[in-house]
Amino acid sequence: MKKITVSAPGKLMLFGEHAVVYDRPCIVTAVGQRMRATVELTDQPMFQLNAPDVKVLNYQKPMSDLGKGDIPKGAKFVEIAVKNFLTNQSTSEVKKMQLHLGGVRVTTKSEFSSEFGFGSSSASTVCTIFALSKLLGKKLSQKQIFDLSYKTVLDVQGKGSGFDIAAAIFGGTLYFVTGGKVIKPLKINSLPLIIGYSGIKVDTVSLIDEVKEKREKYPFLIENIYDQIQKIVEQAKITILNKDWVSLGELMNVNEGYLSTLGVEGKKLADMIYSAREAGAYGAKLSGAGIGDCMISLAPPSKAKAIKKAITQAGGKVLDVKTNVEGVRVESRV
Ligand code: MEV
Repeated sequence: MKKITVSAPGKLMLFGEHAVVYDRPCIVTAVGQRMRATVELTDQPMFQLNAPDVKVLNYQKPMSDLGKGDIPKGAKFVEIAVKNFLTNQSTSEVKKMQLHLGGVRVTTKSEFSSEFGFGSSSASTVCTIFALSKLLGKKLSQKQIFDLSYKTVLDVQGKGSGFDIAAAIFGGTLYFVTGGKVIKPLKINSLPLIIGYSGIKVDTVSLIDEVKEKREKYPFLIENIYDQIQKIVEQAKITILNKDWVSLGELMNVNEGYLSTLGVEGKKLADMIYSAREAGAYGAKLSGAGIGDCMISLAPPSKAKAIKKAITQAGGKVLDVKTNVEGVRVESRV
């Protein structure tokens, strides 16, 4: 086999953002919009990448230069993923692989905009490592794929809990603790969520840094908030499994209160969240780093139309999103 196409889902954080960066749990669900990657083994010892969604066209360099020099932003995750996959193998394995491996050509295509905060970088990292393991006949467990992908994210951006990587690999809805210390699938079918996109692009790393500054200045306050968020997540886990949507909505609202205290709510998201609640949602909160990206609301079907209208009137765009979908998978191989 010389060529494989794989796909991995995007993600939405349900509970526990920010606290999960500091050794607390969160709950994340995998979404129906997927990242696809076609990975080919080529004769020439070159790394080639086309990722039109992030404006990377015909990027190439010798395999021996992987990870070196100035790497365009949109190419970083895939390039470092290839490098990490190869350097992780034992010397004899690498020798064996190099018999197959001249170069690697990767083409990614996303079904979602990289602006949504669905985790396009993480999904393309996971696709790259998964595809290479299949192409080169290297059996990796889901946890090994997680560890390599998470290392890649940390190499590129220096921080992050890895929850988005876990969602891309395992799919479904997960209870997750920082760095993959716990990754526990929650057995549910779907969640009655309505998603609103704010149209505001945020830089997750800068927001993590802002919250970090607050934590350094007021550790006694912020650690307390993280402890409370942890309690919300533990309760939300039970509530999700019981399909008690009314209580889950209330927990969303409580979680949002703490996120507002951390300073990551932002006016536009707040408008969308309050509009959804006023239109009859059980609860609503931001999802992810905050300030921009998306908000989520949990709603009885009878109120869905009114809530969508309210989110739109507040300036948001309702996204049609399936939740709890399958993790990384092979689409086709040649
Ligand atoms: C960003 O989507 C969620 C954060 O908790 C960061 C992370 O967990 O990596 C803010």
